[in-house]
Amino acid sequence: MLCRAVGQLAAGIAHDFNNILTGIIGYAEMLMAEEELPYYIKKRIDMILQSGLRAANMVKQILDFSRKSVSEEAVFDLTSFLKEFLRFAQRVIPENIRIDFSTELEQCRIKADPAKIQQVFTNLVVNAKDAMPDGGNIHITLRKEYIENPSFAEMAPGDWIVIEFTDRGCGIPSDILPHIFEPFFTTKPVGHGTGLGLPQVYGIIRQHGGFIDVRSMVGCGTTFTIFLPFTAEDITATKEKPLSCPQGRGEMILIVEDNEEVRSFLVTFLTELQYRTISVSNGLEALDVYKQKKSEISLILTDLVMPEMSGLEFCKKIKQLHPDAKIIAISGYPLMSDDQKYMLECFDRIVNKPFEIKDMAVVISELLHSR
Ligand SMILES: Nc1ncnc2c1ncn2[C@@H]1O[C@H](COP(=O)(O)OP(=O)(O)OP(=O)(O)O)[C@@H](O)[C@H]1O
Ligand SMILES: [Mg+2]
Repeated sequence: MLCRAVGQLAAGIAHDFNNILTGIIGYAEMLMAEEELPYYIKKRIDMILQSGLRAANMVKQILDFSRKSVSEEAVFDLTSFLKEFLRFAQRVIPENIRIDFSTELEQCRIKADPAKIQQVFTNLVVNAKDAMPDGGNIHITLRKEYIENPSFAEMAPGDWIVIEFTDRGCGIPSDILPHIFEPFFTTKPVGHGTGLGLPQVYGIIRQHGGFIDVRSMVGCGTTFTIFLPFTAEDITATKEKPLSCPQGRGEMILIVEDNEEVRSFLVTFLTELQYRTISVSNGLEALDVYKQKKSEISLILTDLVMPEMSGLEFCKKIKQLHPDAKIIAISGYPLMSDDQKYMLECFDRIVNKPFEIKDMAVVISELLHSR
């Protein structure tokens, strides 16, 4: 009862919020397109836009939680989907976390919204990663099981698809366990978790007619078990949709780029990936901004050739003061391998122009999640 009421309340608020946010985001975007506005005003409007987009992402999670979001269902093979997910996930989590997947099924059809299932898997993998700060293994298994005596009241006996995510992380204390699916429940420090990951997982699984269970032991690890309805339907003929770009979670990226077109492109595309951005046109300004906002800035994206202060000089100054700052250089010309080696001593990554959006998204996400 209470759960339903909370869900309804959340969905109601979320819907109204979406309307309000549409106005905020829409008008901010329109203002951004005005040519006459001074640069500093545009920067402020951009802040409104970024905050609006972050809020929109939270609303999406709440709608998923309360099962009020729209689904695009298709029948697809979960075996190959998981294999591709693994490749994608392995690239965006730190190297000291290994993910393996085992199944005896050659093919395993489910009827689901692939984007939402990917969101579920991503949330579980990120949680497992967070539970193993010193690294470790995440083990994923997939099987079909005939369940005679379901442990959930609403679950019908019969064939179910069972997916398990196991980590050997810190585990969940028994007094915390009953709360983990509650919206906004988090044990992570402020700014590190909103507590919407598992509620979103729960909502999506229930929306698909499935169930989720968790077993955990402090110091030993945690297993999340997902049950999804078995389907005998044929695979929906669809064009291969690539997995989407790894998304940000509102992390702030400082963009240093003198070319205005490239700069505004970077802002737009990073914003779309749910990052927040501050953009400046030269190294001197960037140093200033970094000094003021260093605690908020998670990553720096800098051009190499710029007037006043080159990207390299800027980077050296930053690294002298803050050796653990994360910096990606965008290079406008191909670097010789010797140059490249030298550059990599200064920058954490180098991306060549022109780059593919997806590649850049992966590099950013990898670097953000590395230590
Ligand atoms: N694999 C796990 N191992 C240990 N604890 C976990 C694991 N998964 C979830 N938890 C606990 O459950 C809490 C809620 O998880 P949830 O994903 O909903 O939120 P979050 O990870 O804290 O924040 P968010 O996902 O919104 O960034 C976590 O803060 C953590 O205490
Ligand atoms: Mg989480």
